[in-house]
Amino acid sequence: METLNKELRPIAMINITNRCTLKCKHCFIYREGTPHTPTKKNEMPAEQMIKEIKKYRRKFGIVRMVWMGGEPLLRKDVLELGVKLFPQNTITTNGTLPLINLGPKIKWVISLDGPEEINDEIRGKGCFKKVLKNLNNLPEDFTGDLQCNCVISKKNEEFIEEFIEDLQKETPIRGVNFTFYVPKKKDRTGLCWESLEERDLIIKNVMNLKKKYPNFILNNLMVLNLMFSQNALEITNKCPVKNHMLSLYLGNEGFERPFCCYGNDVNCDLCGAWAVFHLAALMKINPGWPENAIGPFKKITPTSISI
Ligand SMILES: C[S@@+](CC[C@H](N)C(=O)[O-])C[C@H]1O[C@@H](n2cnc3c(N)ncnc32)[C@H](O)[C@@H]1O
Ligand code: SF4
Ligand code: SF4
Repeated sequence: METLNKELRPIAMINITNRCTLKCKHCFIYREGTPHTPTKKNEMPAEQMIKEIKKYRRKFGIVRMVWMGGEPLLRKDVLELGVKLFPQNTITTNGTLPLINLGPKIKWVISLDGPEEINDEIRGKGCFKKVLKNLNNLPEDFTGDLQCNCVISKKNEEFIEEFIEDLQKETPIRGVNFTFYVPKKKDRTGLCWESLEERDLIIKNVMNLKKKYPNFILNNLMVLNLMFSQNALEITNKCPVKNHMLSLYLGNEGFERPFCCYGNDVNCDLCGAWAVFHLAALMKINPGWPENAIGPFKKITPTSISI
């Protein structure tokens, strides 16, 4: 008989390669002190990686897997086998490689960070055009759900509405989720706000835009509210992502668990990760989740959480 899971982590994210086609200015993977070097051992054959992943599935009771990297589409072989292991799968990709059809239940998250000029300043020259070409030439049999993830930072904060218009006009993406830059400890990238209070202004701007584009902006207003300076620290001090989500990075020898899904060098006090506040909201309406949750899992609706 199976023993009960000691550490239940139904949501997991995994880096399946340390290789990438881009070198983005904001990327938390390629920071000093965080595992990100491709080696012969960690870029393992697909069958071996799947075997490893199955062990984690059993140990932590994973239901939703978020596939990342590096660039996960560099390991199509792993994705093809891997998405069959879990009932819910999200693939977060930089969109520079052609997408593949892995079925209608797959959530594809395409990372773009602003209108062409701004995006390319952050993600590299020529990136925007390459991604748009792939999005507008999907395989004929493509059936997945297409969303965009945009990381708001000091570099692109003024261009959010222009970006929404571009996505609507030029891509088949059905909506965009905004997340906010997660800085490292001594962040001198110029991407980070000095304080949470300074960040409040742009959160307010996203809330106003949500009124104008209610369906296209996927962020929930109440979750955005939790990100304001008066609420944020209470949540990040007991980070639900760190405490309840499993993160697997590729160390030199194989999978290892970092400090949190944003790696080993992070400043929690200024963390703007959407997932943190979203999970905090979900936990408010699902008391005891994940260990002692009773009843069916409730999702966030515009009226289901109070703050
Ligand atoms: C690390 S990437 C890996 C997958 C893929 N290469 C991509 O760019 O989508 C996953 C997501 O994290 C976002 N990201 C990278 N650095 C970040 C940071 N410092 N703060 C918040 N999000 C970040 C990326 O823009 C992307 O949407
Ligand atoms: S494409 Fe993704 S993994 Fe690669 S550098 Fe950019 S954010 Fe990082
Ligand atoms: S950086 Fe963000 S996601 Fe990571 S532990 Fe800190 S608050 Fe949580």
